[in-house]
This record gives sequence, C-alpha cells and structure tokens, in this order.
Amino acid sequence: MTYTRARSDGVLSRTLKAVRSLEDFESVARRTLPAPIFGYIHASADGQAAAQTNRDAFGEFEFLPRFLRDVSERSTAVDVLGHRYAAPFGIAPMGLSALSAYRGDLVLAEAAGALGLPMVMSGSSLIPMEAVSQANPDAWFQAYVTGDTDRNAALVDRVAKAGFKTLVITVDVQAQPNLETTMPEEARRSFRVRSPAISRTGARSLSSTSHPYDGSGTAT
Ligand SMILES: Cc1cc2nc3c(=O)[nH]c(=O)nc-3n(C[C@H](O)[C@H](O)[C@H](O)COP(=O)(O)O)c2cc1C
Repeated sequence: MTYTRARSDGVLSRTLKAVRSLEDFESVARRTLPAPIFGYIHASADGQAAAQTNRDAFGEFEFLPRFLRDVSERSTAVDVLGHRYAAPFGIAPMGLSALSAYRGDLVLAEAAGALGLPMVMSGSSLIPMEAVSQANPDAWFQAYVTGDTDRNAALVDRVAKAGFKTLVITVDVQAQPNLETTMPEEARRSFRVRSPAISRTGARSLSSTSHPYDGSGTAT
C-alpha cells in the first residue's frame, strides 16, 4: 500500500498536488487503498441516505462575503471546552484508522496537534491510547460505554491516566448499521483484529473486530 502525506517542509507530494477539492481525496483514496479498506471508509448504510442528507444539510451553509472591512486581525480560532483551537472544526473519531495509514491514529493526532485542531481518538483504534495521548496531549478520547458500570469505570480510569482531558461518548449506535452496505463479507473477513486501544481496559471483550462501522461489531 502506498501512503502519502504532506511533507514537513510544506512541499506537497505528487499525489497531494492533484488534490484540489474534498472530492479529489476520494478518487485518490480509491486508487491508493486496497478495495476492502476503501469500502470500509467510504460506504454508508442503506443507500447512503443519511450521508446524503448530511451533505445536503451542510450544502445549505455558505460564506457571507463582506467587503471593504479591516481584515488585518482576522482569525478562525475558537474556544472549545476551555481550549483555543485554530479553527471551528476538527477530526472526528474514526475507528481502525491504522488500516488506511501506518499507525493512522498517530498521523491524525500529530497533524491535529501541528495545526491546532481538535482531534478525537476513536475507542475502536488499533493504537494504544497512551501513544496517541503522548503524540497529542490535547486529543480527546471517544468511548462506547456499556451497561456495565465497572467496565465503564475501568475505561474512564485508563482514559484519564493516559492523559486525555476530554471524553466523548458515542450514543448513536443502538443498532448495527445495515451489514450489506456497510462492509462486504469479504472485507469483514479481512478485519479480524484486536484493539490495543481498549483491550486492556476490560471495557469490552474483543475476540474479533468489534467496530460498529464495520458492520460486524458489538458496540454496546
Ligand atoms: C470510517 C469511519 C469510522 C468511524 N468510526 C467512528 C468511531 O470509531 N467512533 C465514533 O464515535 N464515530 C465514528 N465514525 C463517525 C464519525 O466520527 C462521524 O461522526 C461521522 O462520520 C459523521 O461525520 P461526517 O459527516 O463528517 O462524516 C466513523 C465514521 C467513519 C466514516
């Protein structure tokens, strides 16, 4: 697998130079990633209905140009939960990110840290949470909590000990997404992995892939 990213000297690789819009990332990813991994990231459930509705909703927003203003002090920085970030958006939690880039969670954590953006580490990561927290001490941690108070307490304890100051709880995975469209059987078979991010917490037992977005998991 080829993996390209912006070089630290600011010079873009040939692949990234060809990226002019968000949509361009998709065609580069389709060409670069193995098909099951691209499918895992790209697919959304049930004919992409919710994904399309989200895109349509975001499409309703537009910049309001104002002219002949003093722009010498302009800034996109915002305060979120007592921390100043460079922009009002960041990196959402994405499970199994290390499948699409070498130690992907660290790549995301370092990039967010360098750019001053919020970054949420997924509770379904393949990289230990301690390593991500070390790479970016301002990263947040996302968890799927269970109905088991002891397991939840053990998880929260480890998250805090790892140095995370912000915990995000995902509550919208009450039912599994549509298996057929979320991840083909072939891809599910290739993702038999254990997650060091959480396996030591005792928060969940992971005998195989258990990421809700792969359609095979048991996120409870
Ligand atoms: C490949 C992939 C993996 C994801 N993994 C997680 C996850 O581990 N935990 C979580 O809370 N959300 C996860 N999400 C949901 C995203 O964090 C985000 O909420 C969702 O994609 C909607 O945001 P968007 O419209 O910017 O894509 C995942 C989404 C994708 C596409």
